[in-house]
Amino acid sequence: MRMRKKKNGPARLAAVSHLFCEKPNTPIATPAEDFGREGPLWLEVGCGKGGFACGMAKKHPDANIYAMERITDVVMLAAERAEREKDERPDNLRFILGGAAELPEFFAPLSFDRVYLNFSDPWPKKGYAKRRLTYRGFLRVYFSLLKMGGELRFKTDNIGLFDFTLEELAVVGLTPHFVTRDLHREPVVADNVMTEYERNFSEKGTPICSLWVCKERELPPEEIERKEEEKA
Ligand SMILES: C[S@@+](CC[C@H](N)C(=O)[O-])C[C@H]1O[C@@H](n2cnc3c(N)ncnc32)[C@H](O)[C@@H]1O
Repeated sequence: MRMRKKKNGPARLAAVSHLFCEKPNTPIATPAEDFGREGPLWLEVGCGKGGFACGMAKKHPDANIYAMERITDVVMLAAERAEREKDERPDNLRFILGGAAELPEFFAPLSFDRVYLNFSDPWPKKGYAKRRLTYRGFLRVYFSLLKMGGELRFKTDNIGLFDFTLEELAVVGLTPHFVTRDLHREPVVADNVMTEYERNFSEKGTPICSLWVCKERELPPEEIERKEEEKA
């Protein structure tokens, strides 16, 4: 996401600092304590300006939600939105300034009930495949953080990224239980919360692809996977 530098950044960030989760010395083993209450724990990676995270926090007052974003000015806008809307939801939303690769430094394995990836940057050049948030290395991170029975939910307008994601899931031995190339025509759309990008694309008539995949077992260690690939 490109964005012009925001004015008064440090003061604005300080004003919403209570909504941020700082990197802990050791990964957080009991994230519910951050919220002071139990409830399903969800994580959005690449939250942009926070429309989805704020919408989900309002729609699901029982859930506790972390929203991660690597660009300071962007996550600041998301946190400011959350602060403006704080009376419309319980205290169930926190932000993390950082990149997805840092997640294991924040959270212990088996922490989350759901991980959401929405309109992740497609990085279309072949040489940049490892930067895509659905590259196998990132999938391994999310699936280590998911509880058994937990779920990854992914939405994108980008067919190339969607196909790539299906391939990467297969590489790590995962099969989605829900796959659509037109989410807004599916019955599940009744529960859908739109992101900023999703609103833009669907207003232009672009269909939205989505998949949901459950964690039914731990993923095999990377070395076994590599040997299998070498044999094939
Ligand atoms: C295309 S935007 C989509 C924003 C939002 N999810 C939406 O659907 O409106 C992708 C966002 O992911 C963030 N992002 C990209 N790579 C990331 C990473 N490795 N870790 C955290 N955020 C990342 C970008 O900074 C950007 O804000």
